[in-house]
Amino acid sequence: MLTVDNISLYYGAAQALRGVSIAAEPGKVTCVLGRNGVGKTSLLRALVGQQAISSGTISFDGHDISKLKPYERARRGISFVPQGREIFPLLTVEENLKTGYAPLKRADKTIPDDVFALFPVLNTMLGRRGGDLSGGQQQQLAIGRALVMRPKLLLLDEPTEGIQPSIIKDIGRAISYLRGLGNIAIVLVEQYLDFACELGDNFAVMDRGAVKFSCDRASLDPAEISRQMAL
Ligand SMILES: Nc1ncnc2c1ncn2[C@@H]1O[C@H](COP(=O)(O)OP(=O)(O)OP(=O)(O)O)[C@@H](O)[C@H]1O
Ligand SMILES: [Mg+2]
Repeated sequence: MLTVDNISLYYGAAQALRGVSIAAEPGKVTCVLGRNGVGKTSLLRALVGQQAISSGTISFDGHDISKLKPYERARRGISFVPQGREIFPLLTVEENLKTGYAPLKRADKTIPDDVFALFPVLNTMLGRRGGDLSGGQQQQLAIGRALVMRPKLLLLDEPTEGIQPSIIKDIGRAISYLRGLGNIAIVLVEQYLDFACELGDNFAVMDRGAVKFSCDRASLDPAEISRQMAL
């Protein structure tokens, strides 16, 4: 339902994506792996429309969305958990969650029960300012906010980065639960290989703006992925 075909992206004269193709399907986790600076975030920015692509196509639910504005893609059900979380520090947890209402119709403007079932800490901290939460709690808040939008496609940019192990487990359980629902396609950008290998159905390793290795779960060899990431 997401098909990215041969996209390229430039920052001025510098090329950050070189003919990248990936796909994502409901009920599946597509993992995008690679070292720092290889273009993982640029790929997600291209998908949500924060950066224009110069060639190739991004199609979602059978429509070419390459030229749509970010809010139009959000309305179609594309939701983004950005690297570094980008929660609003001065808004409360509840207000942060409600920023996810923006693309929704009035009748849908509620916080789904799932969010608090997955991350109970958010319920106990509803009135606290986002900036007062720990890094791990902020990451849970960022994922919760993305779920408020009822995504059909959920994009996660290094959700385990700088997060303590117990919360990494909670985030892993949440991704696994969302995958099990069967109606959400998930793209997980990671450098934490073990985490990605546990959750992923498909794997793409990027290097210098291009996908240089890919495989599915059936042929997954973590040692080979690790080798590809280190090259
Ligand atoms: N706004 C920008 N303007 C110019 N160059 C950029 C910009 N954002 C990223 N780049 C460059 O594009 C390349 C890819 O960056 P990107 O952030 O997509 O990598 P990444 O794989 O997400 O890295 P990391 O793992 O460190 O998050 C890098 O060389 C980076 O310096
Ligand atoms: Mg990045």
